[in-house]
Amino acid sequence: MSTIEAALWPLVLPRTVSRDDRLLLNRSEHERAARYRFEADRTAFITGRAALRRVLGNQLNTQPWRIEFSRSPCPACASVEHGPPNITSPDTRLSFSFSRSGDRALVAVNQRGPIGVDLEIDRTNDVDAMARQCLSLKERAYLDRLPPNHRQEAFRRAWVRKGAVTKASGIGGSVDLTRVHVIPQEPGRVTVRYRLGRRPGTWEVSDVDAGPGVTAALALPNFSIVRF
Ligand SMILES: CC(C)(COP(=O)(O)OP(=O)(O)OC[C@H]1O[C@@H](n2cnc3c(N)ncnc32)[C@H](O)[C@@H]1OP(=O)(O)O)[C@@H](O)C(=O)NCCC(=O)NCCS
Repeated sequence: MSTIEAALWPLVLPRTVSRDDRLLLNRSEHERAARYRFEADRTAFITGRAALRRVLGNQLNTQPWRIEFSRSPCPACASVEHGPPNITSPDTRLSFSFSRSGDRALVAVNQRGPIGVDLEIDRTNDVDAMARQCLSLKERAYLDRLPPNHRQEAFRRAWVRKGAVTKASGIGGSVDLTRVHVIPQEPGRVTVRYRLGRRPGTWEVSDVDAGPGVTAALALPNFSIVRF
């Protein structure tokens, strides 16, 4: 087993964009921000991206605005339009994952390989409809056995685990999530098998305490050191 050093930063994003935030983003990020129809989405994107740049700048010992991102080919279709994001400058082996929901965000970095995080603010979902779309039969059977007041939480746990695994796999969420078996009946760290392209096929998935009101998960190929 290789030793992987990973670290996580749960963040609360500001509700308004500061001048400093704006100055950190590059032209293509500003262009993307301008394409959001709703002000709230634009604000969330800018504050989230600025926060991500600050964390990465600190890790890479560089000015946050100097960091250049690109995308690796999607492991399913080779497109670089929606493949996993990576850092092209400065030269580094560091990989990262980012997730945002409402005003909460989670940044994770890994020195030695892929990483995936997913975070969701706790809200009431139409669990039955969503479970049909993204849970396996076994996962649904588990949820069906739970008392009603535990089903939302169990669903969220499964959902963020799937998000973390698919992001670590480089595909994002646009896949058949019923095929990502995340064992929601087991708390804590679970082993999930899911392979795409040349990426690792076995993931260690941990539930992450990212503060009250959110559910979050982290996926790593193997790890011996995680710094929260
Ligand atoms: C990946 C994705 C599912 C995440 O959406 P989400 O869970 O609603 O939102 P989150 O905030 O948790 O995650 C967004 C972050 O995931 C990361 N991300 C985007 N694509 C990713 C990918 N392929 N792999 C890993 N991470 C990815 C980015 O850092 C993104 O942050 P940004 O939007 O500020 O750039 C979404 O971006 C998506 O659907 N992308 C398209 C994937 C696609 O079309 N695949 C087709 C396969 S052929």
